[in-house]
Amino acid sequence: MTSEPRRPVISNGSFTLNGTRFILTQDPASRTTPDSVVFLKTAEMLALYDQLFERVAPRRIVEFGIFEGGSPLYFAATKDIDLFVGIDLRPRSEIVLGHVKSMGLSEKISLHYGVSQGDRAAVEAVLDAEFGSNPLDMVIDDASHQLALSRASFEIAFPRLRPGGVYVLEDWGWAHWAGAFQQAGGQWHDMPALTTLVFEVTMAMASNPRLISKVEIGSGSWLFITRGEDPIPLGFSLAGTIRNRGKALPEI
Ligand SMILES: C[S@@+](CC[C@H](N)C(=O)[O-])C[C@H]1O[C@@H](n2cnc3c(N)ncnc32)[C@H](O)[C@@H]1O
Repeated sequence: MTSEPRRPVISNGSFTLNGTRFILTQDPASRTTPDSVVFLKTAEMLALYDQLFERVAPRRIVEFGIFEGGSPLYFAATKDIDLFVGIDLRPRSEIVLGHVKSMGLSEKISLHYGVSQGDRAAVEAVLDAEFGSNPLDMVIDDASHQLALSRASFEIAFPRLRPGGVYVLEDWGWAHWAGAFQQAGGQWHDMPALTTLVFEVTMAMASNPRLISKVEIGSGSWLFITRGEDPIPLGFSLAGTIRNRGKALPEI
């Protein structure tokens, strides 16, 4: 018998799960402590994930960009999953690993620190070691939000999803957000917009819906890309998949 989800009532602010306090915040300076776990998500985004988990029923999950551990700890504690693998550039956090242990989630969570989402050899080594030939059900990219790095991890991980599996691209719309993002010298002002990847994925879907069967877009905060039913080689590239009458897509 599968266990019931153990999701607490969540509103923006904080909630307690298996005796551990989670703090929902948008402050990237916040840190997980022995007393509380920082989670950079909104209650609205978690409600959206609830719907997605119901639809996809993922058991094998990878997230690029785990920050202070909120995401692996929350999903492993509240959803019926087998393994949540986290990959992040930041250094190993003994405090986060302490929560994994104290929440009894050591069998369900495996965290790989010091690995860039764009490092093909390192990411493939992690995925091979953790999953072997078993396909993934869900991948979440909430890491750098930079075009080349995000495209790289998409090309590495998307072929490893099962047909019907979903790749989530979070916060792709930052280039269109108000405030500092629009000002010279503001965050990522001179970087190419991640929107280019959204266009590429959409064009790849139109070029071959058997590789990418659906692209769902709800706001600049999320994009769900559903894997089609055809086999996809591990060396898959978006550029090699898109048909566009020989015309290149300019970066914006
Ligand atoms: C927005 S935070 C992730 C928030 C987390 N998913 C959550 O919900 O609490 C972005 C994370 O991506 C990581 N990151 C940035 N660039 C990266 C890269 N090239 N490869 C892997 N992780 C990266 C950062 O270290 C940071 O932990």
